[in-house]
Amino acid sequence: MKPTTALLILATLAGALAVPTDPLYANRKLQRDLGLERIPLSRTPAYVPDIHKALAKARAKYHPSRSFRSGGSANGNGTVTSTPEDYDNAWLTPVSFGTPPQVLTLDFDTGSSDTWVFSPEVEPAEDAWGHTVFDPAKSSSFTKLDGYSWFIAYGDFSSASGDVGTDVVSIGGVGVKTQAVQLAKRVSHSFAHDKSNNGLLGLAFDNINTVRPVKQKTFPTNLAGEGTLPSGSQLFTTALYSTRDAESSFWTFGYIDDELVKASGQAIKWTPVAAESGFWQVDLPRITVGGKETVFDAGNNGIVDSGTTLIIVPTQWLEAFYSAIPGSGKDVDPDSGDVSWWFPNAALDSLPEFKIEIGGTLWTVQPEDLIYDGRDANSTYGALQTIDEDTTILGDTFLKSVYAVWDTENTRIGFVPKIQKTQNLKPTGIGGHP
Ligand SMILES: *[C@@H]1O[C@H](CO)[C@@H](O)[C@H](O)[C@H]1NC(C)=O
Ligand SMILES: *[C@@H]1O[C@H](CO)[C@@H](O)[C@H](O)[C@H]1NC(C)=O
Repeated sequence: MKPTTALLILATLAGALAVPTDPLYANRKLQRDLGLERIPLSRTPAYVPDIHKALAKARAKYHPSRSFRSGGSANGNGTVTSTPEDYDNAWLTPVSFGTPPQVLTLDFDTGSSDTWVFSPEVEPAEDAWGHTVFDPAKSSSFTKLDGYSWFIAYGDFSSASGDVGTDVVSIGGVGVKTQAVQLAKRVSHSFAHDKSNNGLLGLAFDNINTVRPVKQKTFPTNLAGEGTLPSGSQLFTTALYSTRDAESSFWTFGYIDDELVKASGQAIKWTPVAAESGFWQVDLPRITVGGKETVFDAGNNGIVDSGTTLIIVPTQWLEAFYSAIPGSGKDVDPDSGDVSWWFPNAALDSLPEFKIEIGGTLWTVQPEDLIYDGRDANSTYGALQTIDEDTTILGDTFLKSVYAVWDTENTRIGFVPKIQKTQNLKPTGIGGHP
């Protein structure tokens, strides 16, 4: 064999090998084949941050029993209580339902697993006024699931419930033929009031879906099960930006956005998810505040949730963070005992760096995202808060700092730091402060 031939063979082999070892190869191919694109999000118009509302939402979502007087969540017919929402701070995304397509903007929630929409069945009818409804009667592909129902109870003592059918559902060019669509008959006041949000797309795991008598599969599970997304592409991704950023927020289904991974200059770092919990639950062993380390008990874990605005942590974490800010404090509600932590405005430009360890890597929360809501002329509520000692939720405050890859096939979540073209770290215009 002449040396040149050997070199050629080597070069060819290297070329052939280079393809499967490229971790994003399957994604790139699918993105090309299906013409997949970023799915743009819009923010709730005229959003005004309110720490008490944001905390009430988190409490109601994860501890519904606390939000009901005398155990009002039990309704005696085996239906389950979960997922109360207040939609003040949601990112909204267009979704197509039925044939021909009816497009509704929904809130995408990685902390629940129901896909539900406003429908013509909403009672009283005025609760649907101003909303876009999905009308199954106008879809030739809708099939009712007889005897199926769903029920979600809310922290404000109202509830959403209704019946169920299946239909074609598509988001950003990828579709599911037989997706359970939960039609609302009753919605809470906050849903009725928020005219830009017409329902919810649940992106947690199937075991926490509320449909009875048989739990229904989420959109990502169906994308995989129907073969729309092949092995290697059974994932979705999130890039959430703040209103202060020039970039547009987006989700992708079936592919990882190369541009954001490249911009980070890093490979995606993965961590396993305890999917049996129903949530995107990860181990959270450690934080650092201003470079100082705090180690928590082994077994400390939390969930990553696009449907929660704040970072919700045990008091121990808060003490580590707020004690590093001179003049900070907490308000205690005399009736409920609920606590809201704040810091003086003088500290706004010098907040300590806050990092969370996930999967062996410390992830920095952008300092400007730690600022949430104006308290008075001289102080501001932080975006790090608590609802009890057992609950840790990495909400949008965390997600805004990373590009997140939710890998349903391998039940793992991956992050790279989200590097912005114009990294605006100035905490202005947040929380009602000029
Ligand atoms: C269960 O109770 C809820 C709330 O009262 C009701 O809306 C729903 O129709 C009931 N479901 C069944 C199957 O009886
Ligand atoms: C804010 O600080 C100013 C100047 O020290 C003071 O006069 C004012 O009363 C403070 N306002 C509040 C609400 O604490």
